[in-house]
Amino acid sequence: MSIAAKGKAAIARDGFATRLGVITATLGSAVGLGNIWKFPYLTGANGGAAFVIIYLACTLLVGLPVMISELVIGRKTRANAITAFQKLAPRQVWWLVGAAGVLSAFLILAFYTEVAAWVFAYVLKAIGGGILSTSPEVTSAAFGGLVSSPIQSLVWQWVVLAWVSIIIIAGVSKGIEAMTKRLLPLLFILLIIVGIRSLTLPGAGEGLTFLLKPDFSKVTGATVLVAMGLSFFKLSVGMGTMITYGSYFRDDQNIPGTATRVMLADLLVSMLAGIAIFPAVFAFGFQPAAGPSLLFITIPAVFSSMPLGSVFMVIFFILTAIAATGAMLSLFEVPVAYLNERLGWSRLKATLVTAIALAVIGSTAALSNSLLAEFKLFGMTMFDLLDYLTSNILLPVGGLFICIFVGWKWGFKELKQALSNEGKLENGGIVRAFFATAKIITPVLVFIVLLSGLGVI
Ligand code: TRP
Repeated sequence: MSIAAKGKAAIARDGFATRLGVITATLGSAVGLGNIWKFPYLTGANGGAAFVIIYLACTLLVGLPVMISELVIGRKTRANAITAFQKLAPRQVWWLVGAAGVLSAFLILAFYTEVAAWVFAYVLKAIGGGILSTSPEVTSAAFGGLVSSPIQSLVWQWVVLAWVSIIIIAGVSKGIEAMTKRLLPLLFILLIIVGIRSLTLPGAGEGLTFLLKPDFSKVTGATVLVAMGLSFFKLSVGMGTMITYGSYFRDDQNIPGTATRVMLADLLVSMLAGIAIFPAVFAFGFQPAAGPSLLFITIPAVFSSMPLGSVFMVIFFILTAIAATGAMLSLFEVPVAYLNERLGWSRLKATLVTAIALAVIGSTAALSNSLLAEFKLFGMTMFDLLDYLTSNILLPVGGLFICIFVGWKWGFKELKQALSNEGKLENGGIVRAFFATAKIITPVLVFIVLLSGLGVI
């Protein structure tokens, strides 16, 4: 390529401008409802501290290696998830891993937009004051009223889809990214405040014990699979989001270092959410195993028990809605970019078609607590099935292939070149440790956990 052509390509392809910007943008995709809604509800339903410890181990041995693998594939090829594989392995079937990622993005969004819908609805409820109560009966009934209404569940999901579509079409992702960057620290501070209130409630100690003192006696293969699924979901890995993000990384970015920082910050947000929720669960007599409703019935009670709680609660749900929006944008971008680049559709058309398809598929999740409550597949409602299938099967299988690709297909030499920024970084030890993990440990672990979690072995 001539120098002029190279310059042109560099201008045409958008990228992250600063090294700190890379970290906050990547963190913006990772931090979302996974921290504030999913981590607490799964921890509560799976026995507390033992689950948290297994989740930490999965994050280190599975989530992080897959994240580094995806980022380095993306930066090396500077392409979307499907094209990236086609560039590294021309005329082979590896691009199917990227294609499966597009499907995963749809299925995750189908239920994610409904949880975001509850958060959006709660902003209004918090303003109206209807959920200001420390009684489990009152806050449970408020949540039940929302999810059992087919109209409210559907309309709020459409509001979320319209909101995300407008941002994607307007292409103001820079604006929302800048906004996310400024507001995430606020969410962080608010979580600390709620955490302190929760910890100082009478009877809070039991909740802290639940979160920190492990009891491994109830751990099964199924529990480990759920913890591993969460580690994929949390770091947005296993379906190509991080390949796409890696393609925007600077050449001088330290990929292993960045991934580790993002992982640690993300864990911190999850733990803060756990500290905000579990002491209150025990103090007010809620059930830790309430499932997906946990956040929506406990958090109002914590706010109701503190001065200016009604104001803080409104701010809390607005910040959660913003965190969810950042994560949804990174998911939405996957099918939209594909339809745009591959089929040549305009961004407007690609976005509208994606949103309409999501309104259709997503309605099955939206109606899971009302019209479709009795409709079950494999013993699960559509909402639970979409949630389970994506985190616990599609993302792990995607991650397995990504690690096999990096460990067995790509080869150590090229990988070392790419991860050391063509020899500019002295990180040989880290790269070797990463390579051994991604080549052997991660695939073996994912394989065993998948089979045992699904009851095959
Ligand atoms: N990580 C986000 C959260 O915790 C959700 C998310 C965004 C995601 N992009 C993803 C999950 C890609 C899996 C794959 O809320």
